[in-house]
Amino acid sequence: MTIGVLREGGKENRVTLLPEHIPSLVKKNVTVLIESDAGSSSCASNVEYVDAGAAIQTREYILENSDIVLKINPPREDEMPKGKILVSILNPLTNTELIKKLAASNVTSFSLDMIPRTTRAQAVDILSSMATIAGYKAVLVAASKLPNFFPMFMSASGTIKPSRVLILGAGVAGLQSLATSRKLGAVVEVFDVRPAVKEEVMSLGGKFIEVEGSKDDSSAGGYAIEQTEEYKKKQAELIHNHAAQANVVICTAQIPGKKAPILIPRATVDSMSPGSVIIDMAAGSGGNCELTKKDETVIHNRVRIIGNSDFPSKMPADASKMLGKNYTNFLDLMIDKDGNLNLDFEDDILSGTCMTRDGEIRNERVREIISFENS
Ligand code: NAI
Repeated sequence: MTIGVLREGGKENRVTLLPEHIPSLVKKNVTVLIESDAGSSSCASNVEYVDAGAAIQTREYILENSDIVLKINPPREDEMPKGKILVSILNPLTNTELIKKLAASNVTSFSLDMIPRTTRAQAVDILSSMATIAGYKAVLVAASKLPNFFPMFMSASGTIKPSRVLILGAGVAGLQSLATSRKLGAVVEVFDVRPAVKEEVMSLGGKFIEVEGSKDDSSAGGYAIEQTEEYKKKQAELIHNHAAQANVVICTAQIPGKKAPILIPRATVDSMSPGSVIIDMAAGSGGNCELTKKDETVIHNRVRIIGNSDFPSKMPADASKMLGKNYTNFLDLMIDKDGNLNLDFEDDILSGTCMTRDGEIRNERVREIISFENS
């Protein structure tokens, strides 16, 4: 069994495996091939990979000789592991063209962004580990751009009030932003359509602001569901009033597979104080703020709106450490203790993440989207 790790390239600093993840694979008789310099932006050198038991190779060699290829970002044309197994993030619900190409190239593909949020899947849940990093980093970026202190200050020069942070969405990223903002001494308010998260918000020292009458669906696997029009109107007023008082707004609201809901329209940005900062973590799926531009900073009325979609890549060493753990745990589901391939499609994690196999698209939701696109 040979596993190949490709260098991500572009602005991506993370890598799927660090040297510390290699020995457990080698112990199972797995050969690990690393593309030259794959780990250099994550503080891992070629020499350290070799010391850990891996071999450094070219991309072409790895694509030719690996049974399983590991990537973070969806493969480009020159990274297509034809006839092999691919474990990557594929964004299959929005990138159906790629899924069709993978099927046509006879790739057995697993998309780690489709992992169900179940207790058993926690060890392989890369979206949660990356959202944790993004939630933390977003607050640090906000604090560094804000022209105010986060904590309260009392000194001979007077008293400075603590900053007010409003967090929209109390999922993994939002709760991490809450914890980090509190550690820095800010007063934090949190809004989410799922009242079930209220206790968690309060236990982390946040104030939960709420609208009566939200639909919460426990069958949605811990994710949000669509709300009524009346609810959305009340919600808009509530968010507008609290955002106007905030120094920092951190946007993390999302419903998987859908465009992010607009929660901060232009009028709300107009009502915010000069110098305020909006970090829109949902920028990758359209943003929660009407004025967000993905991977750009927009300044409107002296309010800074930051639309970075790459916070985990800005903390590459620990991001890769967490990813490596998630990837090796995922590999454990498909490789037995002697290093032989053992793909059990009765396993809900493997079947839920498998997008293509034997030249066919295997995921029902992706098939439905494609047949809608073709209709
Ligand atoms: P999650 O699904 O755990 O949390 C999203 C939360 O938003 C849920 O609690 C949900 O109830 C809430 N929500 C949905 N609709 C809402 C609405 N209309 N109003 C208020 N709350 C609403 O998602 P997670 O993992 O926390 O990720 C959050 C966002 O951060 C996603 O858009 C994700 O793509 C993004 N992200 C961004 C990164 C970056 O570098 N910018 C890195 C990692 C994640």
